[in-house]
Amino acid sequence: MRALRTALVIGASGLVGGALVRALERSGVEVTATGHSRAAGMSALDVREAAAVEQCVAAAKPDVIFLAVNVPGGVDRCEEQPDAADAVNVQGTKHVAAAAAQHGATLVYYSTDYVFDGKSGPYAEEDPPNPISVYGRTKLEAEQIVRERVPRHLIVRTTAVYGWDRGSRNFAMQVWERLGGGQPLRVPHDQLCNPTLAEYLAETSLRLVQEGVEGVVNVVGRDRMSRADLARQLARAMALDPALVTAVPTSELSQKAPRPLAGGLKIDKLARLLGTEPLDLAESLKRFRRGWRADTHTTGAPTAGARAAAGEAEQLKQEILEKVRRYWEVAHQPQPFVPRKSRVNYAGRVYGPEELVNLVDASLDFWLTLGPWGDLFEAKLRKYLGCRDVVLVNSGSTANLTAVMALMSPLLDNPLRPGDEVITPAVTFPSTLAPLVHGGLVPVFVDCEVGTYNVNPRLLAGAIGPKTRALVLPHTLGNPFDLDVVMDLVKRHTLYLIEDTCDALGGTWRGKPVGTFGDLATLSFFPAHHITMGEGGAVVVNNPRLATIVRSVRDWGRACWCAPGESNTCGKRFGWELGELPRGYDHKYIYSTLGYNFKPTDLQAAIGVAQLDRLAGFVAKRREHFVRLSVALAPFRDRLVLPTEDPRAQPSWFGFPITVREGVSRAALVQALETANIETRQVFGGNILKQPGYRDITRRVHGTLAETDRIMRDTFFIGVYPGLTDGMLEFVARAFGEFFSRR
Ligand SMILES: Cc1ncc(COP(=O)(O)O)c(C=O)c1O
Repeated sequence: MRALRTALVIGASGLVGGALVRALERSGVEVTATGHSRAAGMSALDVREAAAVEQCVAAAKPDVIFLAVNVPGGVDRCEEQPDAADAVNVQGTKHVAAAAAQHGATLVYYSTDYVFDGKSGPYAEEDPPNPISVYGRTKLEAEQIVRERVPRHLIVRTTAVYGWDRGSRNFAMQVWERLGGGQPLRVPHDQLCNPTLAEYLAETSLRLVQEGVEGVVNVVGRDRMSRADLARQLARAMALDPALVTAVPTSELSQKAPRPLAGGLKIDKLARLLGTEPLDLAESLKRFRRGWRADTHTTGAPTAGARAAAGEAEQLKQEILEKVRRYWEVAHQPQPFVPRKSRVNYAGRVYGPEELVNLVDASLDFWLTLGPWGDLFEAKLRKYLGCRDVVLVNSGSTANLTAVMALMSPLLDNPLRPGDEVITPAVTFPSTLAPLVHGGLVPVFVDCEVGTYNVNPRLLAGAIGPKTRALVLPHTLGNPFDLDVVMDLVKRHTLYLIEDTCDALGGTWRGKPVGTFGDLATLSFFPAHHITMGEGGAVVVNNPRLATIVRSVRDWGRACWCAPGESNTCGKRFGWELGELPRGYDHKYIYSTLGYNFKPTDLQAAIGVAQLDRLAGFVAKRREHFVRLSVALAPFRDRLVLPTEDPRAQPSWFGFPITVREGVSRAALVQALETANIETRQVFGGNILKQPGYRDITRRVHGTLAETDRIMRDTFFIGVYPGLTDGMLEFVARAFGEFFSRR
């Protein structure tokens, strides 16, 4: 298999180009993306400008160039403006071909079944072309240019490419817009094509390049059908009314460009090359639907027209969801606070009708396993954090286990190995530590600080020994640890860093979100945490080499990246040849690293999506409550150590930690608060080495753990969570006042 290091995607703002960028990145290829105008993550490149093309290729130094540009307005615009078609399809291709040849890059060119006349499709690769439109003619000319001028080239012929992409005018999006607005759509019943999902086209082209395939290959979906049939199937996939599709002959449509009617492409060569049949329509619609579902559910509720058109199921659903909203109002509204009678919890779920609505919506969907809601949650959180990837798991504990297993994976060039040392604080949560012990790594315990409750940054450098390879550090109770010191050590000693951010989502250090500094970070969505989905967690990936490994560990350790219920995402499920496995062994059952199934359900993710919309507000409330408690408890500073914030940090506090000074009994204070119905907690495991389950673990202790022991003896915390009200916070302040006035 050919290893690709670098790729240039020209046309990355389009449907196919965008899918190519995602597929390449998933395979660990370094991608330069260009579009006709500058957009997020890509630079502007107009293929009509020879010098700009040459400059771009020279700078990107790609092993392979994917040329997937379109003339805006498509086939009919080409017919109306042949010069525009020529400038992009012919001249543009000349420019790219020249640069590819000059720099020794492979060129993958995307062509079409419109190079044929449509008298006798489906067509094989070697059938004689005979275009009947300007579009077809210019694409054929471009094919000839590529063939003659670029020594290493692959011409991918495809047809009826579709995908869920609001920025695209592809056929599926036209069906969504028309039928979604309750409008009928006239579609030809005499134009035949093989509908091709954009993601499938992208993945499969990449596989062909990796296999070193050159020449012409048809890459299309397995099923051949009329446009009208495709429109109806797409309508069903998007819960729209297929009866709005009116099948008509092409002659009634007055399209500008003539169409090859009996079009479509043969798939025998593709199946032979990849040892796998191409994706059929049912499978590709399933994947299309997932993209549609994830995007439309919170960003674009169906219009009234679409709802009316959607039939009984959709209408019933809307009625149910209305009732759910009402149910929240009646049954779930927060109750008024009655001092001493109502419990002042340290944490808890804070939610509105949206969480219930999403949950019921997902349950009516009955997808169950991780699906479109999971995709949506991961995308939203990725955007919030600005990180490379977010991988949902079923708890913060499994997030920690996944993160450590990923760092120990043989897929990594330089993995952690049993016996390697990992620095971690002695005040910790048990499942931050347990994965290290389980993996045979040796924890090196460092003392913590009263006040910040984090690992003492001044002790870290001295704790590093010749076997030290990583740091696993929690941002204790939401307070960011000193990332200046830690990142400096990480760089100087080439250490891996896992940030346990389970208690700290939403905090920042020098304005950058915590969880985006380490190679990996972990989150928990248990109800006590900043956002919840009942049970749940995530691994935040910042080191690009770890993205596929983390997913693989979460998904049984398999090599395949198909989502639940999907097959052949890679395009060559039965065509892989890896190590000592029999050639063609099912990719679904190839395991490249140790792993488990740590996925949550789509129902959990649906709740999380609504919670994410509240996150910024939650963080602000937590900070506000923290400040109020700091002010209210300031008079007791001679008896209590209050928590400290570093000026470089904006903590997203999990709780309000308090250490009693000498002469004050923690037990008495905690008892007074609990009697007043104010909930308290101690700092998790305290000195974890005193816990029965951890007493005998193999470890190294750096220096003493004196402050750690003090935290175990004298510290506790109370809540700052957004569910607290002014009345509750005033009551808490009064309870402290009463306690100290009695003494
Ligand atoms: C710092 C820390 N890490 C990990 C976890 C584990 O998360 P979960 O309960 O979701 O397994 C917790 C839980 O509170 C935590 O506080």
